[in-house]
Amino acid sequence: MSWGLENRLSRIIQKDGKTLMFAVDHGYFLGAIKGLEQPKDMLRKLAPYADALMLTRGLLTNCVSSDYKKPIILRADGGPSIGAAKEKIHSLADHEVMITLEDALKLNASAVAISIFVGTEYETQTMKNLSKMVSEAEKYGMPVLAVTAVGLSLDNLKEDPKYLGLACRMAAEHGAHIVKTYYCTNGFEEVTGGCPVPVVMAGGKKVDDEIKALQQAYNAISKGAIGVDMGRNIFQSNNSLKMIKALKKIIHKGIAPEEAYWKIPEGPYTRLDKK
Ligand code: R5P
Repeated sequence: MSWGLENRLSRIIQKDGKTLMFAVDHGYFLGAIKGLEQPKDMLRKLAPYADALMLTRGLLTNCVSSDYKKPIILRADGGPSIGAAKEKIHSLADHEVMITLEDALKLNASAVAISIFVGTEYETQTMKNLSKMVSEAEKYGMPVLAVTAVGLSLDNLKEDPKYLGLACRMAAEHGAHIVKTYYCTNGFEEVTGGCPVPVVMAGGKKVDDEIKALQQAYNAISKGAIGVDMGRNIFQSNNSLKMIKALKKIIHKGIAPEEAYWKIPEGPYTRLDKK
């Protein structure tokens, strides 16, 4: 591993081996979903608490101040929209690489992210996207985060450790430096145990109770994940700031969810909707 690649990874993965990535890249196929309608103010308040920020180049250049100090994980692929997928006009899995390594370097990215859609007709295409990006990225010391199992067409497989394990392992075998996948209630330790590179947990859809989302992060870490790359359960919460602060305590201090969440005092900025 080159010095540059190790250095970039060390900016994302903290000294304790853990990381809190804040994912706000959803607009690249979902548009302005709840919580991301006016992302600038939200990012100004929440992004400083993350260890790394995962987003698209458009959101980065338009909504994040250029003096932002935390590492950036840049979404590097995309294509289909949720609209075409819902109408069954176009598969959401039909991703292509959308940015070059030069684009990522120019934006001072610390990693690039590529989705793979194992088990779909686009698995070979998206594996090629990943593999080619790894070959290119390694020339410049740029880590690649592979995103697996995220996408509407895979809903029935999200609780299947065999599927998640296969997808994570394939991502690592094709050269990903970190893999992001969903948590599954049973067998998540097999998913992380069978993956030779670090695994981070994607949060998934907003759940009704903050503690449930935090508990999932806690469970994922206790079963081998090095942290989370979470979005909707943070920015769609009525207590976004409290959520991201609680996650930090869970990930870096191993504090149990209830304690991590409830011991954070209510303050003027605890709820984003209060100025
Ligand atoms: C897909 O839209 C993205 O890769 C998200 O970053 C990923 O799904 C994580 O966000 P969430 O916690 O909202 O699932």
